[in-house]
Amino acid sequence: MRQQIVAGNWKMNNDMAETEMFLVQLKKQVIPEDVSLMIAPAFTNLNHAFQSVKDHPVTIVAQNMHQSDKGAFTGEVSAAMLKSVGVKTVILGHSERRSIFKEENAVLAEKVNTALIHDMNIIFCVGETLSHRETDDHFNVIEEQLEQSLFHLSQANWKQLIIAYEPVWAIGTGETATPDQAQEMHAFIRKTIAEKYSSNVANKVSILYGGSVKPKNAAEIFSQKDVDGGLIGGASLDVENFMEIANAF
Ligand code: 13P
Repeated sequence: MRQQIVAGNWKMNNDMAETEMFLVQLKKQVIPEDVSLMIAPAFTNLNHAFQSVKDHPVTIVAQNMHQSDKGAFTGEVSAAMLKSVGVKTVILGHSERRSIFKEENAVLAEKVNTALIHDMNIIFCVGETLSHRETDDHFNVIEEQLEQSLFHLSQANWKQLIIAYEPVWAIGTGETATPDQAQEMHAFIRKTIAEKYSSNVANKVSILYGGSVKPKNAAEIFSQKDVDGGLIGGASLDVENFMEIANAF
């Protein structure tokens, strides 16, 4: 069975005290055994968060990193810096990084390479905009994102990859993809990976859905055959909501 994952992407939310408060609450919860839980706090709180959950099964994840190892890149953070505070997993290609910070498929491929050189795990996000979907271009866009950022990798590299399908029109909007729409795209992603690599690789990679996942809709989305969990924004800021989603399989 594929690894089931519920990951909270906190984006630019939660300062140090709020991060600690959340983690203290989280440590009091019963964690479902077959679900891997992840939290991605702000860079400033990664060190503290990692130390705080050292003896706890939750994984602390970074929201981004730079593709270079070091140098004159004001404001950026490297893979080695993340690893030096215990972080071994990074989210790359989030739609906010793509649209607001102009990260394109080619630079994301470089980031993926750097993360793998540093033996990190990657949650790689793909997703189409509303206009792509309305013009029936959504499958092409997702295929292109996979091809241009990931399909140069070796079969072995895929052990370190998790894919997150996040339709841009569903992020933070309260509008979720229907379970059928999510399943359709997840199956397409898996088929595309199988055609490029093998069904063995494709069947092992966890594909998460992201975009307005809430306690009330998580179970229906997670029940789809090719949906292996979620990448959660807003609802991951509250421990109760996060745990309800973690228990929705
Ligand atoms: P929301 O759950 O707030 O829609 O955000 C989804 C997301 O972007 C997670 O990375």
